[in-house]
Parts: sequence; C-alpha cells; structure tokens
Amino acid sequence: MSRFHGRIALVTGAASGIGRATAVRLASEGALVAAVDRDVEGAEETVSAAKSADGECIAVCCDVSDSRAVADAVAEIEGKLGAVDTLANVAGVGDTAGMEGIEGIDDERWRFVLDVNLSGPMYLCRALLPGMAERGRGAVVNVSSLAGRSKSANGGLAYTASKSGLLGLTRHLAFDYGPRGVRVNAICPGGVDTPMIRAGGVDQALSDEEANARMERIQAYSYFMPIKRLSSPEEQASAIAFLASEDASYINGVALDVNGGLFMA
Ligand SMILES: NC(=O)c1ccc[n+]([C@@H]2O[C@H](COP(=O)([O-])OP(=O)(O)OC[C@H]3O[C@@H](n4cnc5c(N)ncnc54)[C@H](O)[C@@H]3O)[C@@H](O)[C@H]2O)c1
Repeated sequence: MSRFHGRIALVTGAASGIGRATAVRLASEGALVAAVDRDVEGAEETVSAAKSADGECIAVCCDVSDSRAVADAVAEIEGKLGAVDTLANVAGVGDTAGMEGIEGIDDERWRFVLDVNLSGPMYLCRALLPGMAERGRGAVVNVSSLAGRSKSANGGLAYTASKSGLLGLTRHLAFDYGPRGVRVNAICPGGVDTPMIRAGGVDQALSDEEANARMERIQAYSYFMPIKRLSSPEEQASAIAFLASEDASYINGVALDVNGGLFMA
C-alpha cells in the first residue's frame, strides 16, 4: 500500500512504542516522516527501522511541552521535508505517581502531565493547522486513551484529566477545521505492550503493598478484556494510519476505541 505517497508526516513520541510503530508504518506507506521525540537516540533507531521498511524518515529532537521548541522543530521539519499535512500526536507520559489520589498530586506533577499530554498536542496543532487549512488538506490523529473515555486503570487523576481534555481539543478542532479540508480525530488505546504500560507492572512496584495492589488491578483488567492480550504498538499504528489516510475521508471528530472491547460504548 502507498496511501501516504507524496505526504509529509510529523509523528511525536516516535522514539518508542506506538509513536515508533506509527512512524515506521507511515514511512512504509510512502510518507516522508519526521520522527519527533525528546529522546533523540530512540528517534534515530526509529529512522533505522523506517529505512529497513524502505521508508524515508528523519529524527528531530523536541520536548513537546515547550511551545518554543515545538515552533522551532516545525520550522526545521518544514525546511527539510516540506509542508506537513499529516500529524500524529503520540507523545505522552504515564502518571503512576498519581495513583494514590488527589491528595498525592503536587502542582509540579499535575502541570508536568498536563503540559506533555494536553498542551503538547495543542502546540503542535497550533503550529501546523493554519498551514494545512491554507492548503486545504490535512489530517491529525491525537492519541488519547481509554482513560479519556472512562478513567485510567494504570495511571492517576492527572493522566485521566489530560486524556479527556485531549478528546475535547480533538472535537473542537474538528469543528473549526473541517470546513477548511482538515480532519481531526483521536484514538483511544486500551492496554498496549510498550515501556509505558510495563512501568505499571508488578516487578516495578516500590513496596509489597504496591505490588499486591498492582496485581489485583492487572487481574481485574485481564478478566474484563474480551481479547485476552495486550495490543501491540503496530495494531494502534494501524488505526492511526487509517484515520490519517483518505480511507477515512468522511471521518472527523471521532474518538476511536482501539481496546479489544475492554471498554465498550
Ligand atoms: N501503552 C499503553 O497501554 C497506552 C494506553 C493508552 C494510551 N497510551 C498513549 O499512547 C501514547 C504512546 O505511549 P506508549 O505506550 O507508546 O509509551 P512509550 O513510553 O513507549 O512512548 C512514549 C514516547 O513519548 C516520548 N515523550 C514523552 N514525553 C515527551 C515530551 N515531553 N516531548 C517529546 N517526546 C516525549 C517518550 O520519549 C517516548 O518515546 C501516549 O500518549 C500514551 O498516553 C498508551
């Protein structure tokens, strides 16, 4: 398939997990891809993976929670590759520190999670959507979470709030930019086998009490999961590529659940 032939794609969080799988998938389908991450070594590994899949990809270092860094990265990418018409906002941080409840969340933690998971995608959209609208073509896919549709099983309050907020951002931008040829959608993954979910595993717990609590949560999670396994990052990338492609030309403003039926609504 070459659904993205002639397209320029920017993927954040591209050094790992879902972001890496998305960058490789879009590149393998013909896009010129900018793999953006604060972890530049990881992003370079993604470039190698994309090249092994016969794709073209460059690595760009950027902290998406820093609005000036985002503006600089976008200018660098558009200078090297051309005008971006496909944006996947995948970068995100988990929030297992917030599991204990609202009284355990200090201002710094709250702002950190919201800055990366919600402000980051807003900065990328602000930098790119006006240009896409001017050219009359573009697609954005924001990676929210099952947490944004319901509540987080593995993360804390700030994570749930950030991923819910991202769905609001998605809907509002879909309304504003739909008339100008730009579609904005979101996916809501359930459990995906990446370093983020492994950080919430039993072997990473700091005490026996926490290990037991994590084990209980994981068992409950497994019970309610109709497809009895975690998703691979590639299965999420497949949904992102669908929404970003012309196959989804009449889909705008949706939150697509990619959770194996763990949360059905
Ligand atoms: N893994 C899951 O079970 C799961 C479930 C639902 C949603 N998600 C969401 O999917 C997205 C990708 O997560 P993943 O599971 O692939 O995790 P991951 O930890 O494998 O990858 C996250 C990537 O984001 C990058 N990143 C983090 N903060 C950044 C910042 N400030 N600037 C630039 N890059 C930054 C990291 O360096 C990393 O490469 C996240 O938004 C996450 O919330 C994951």
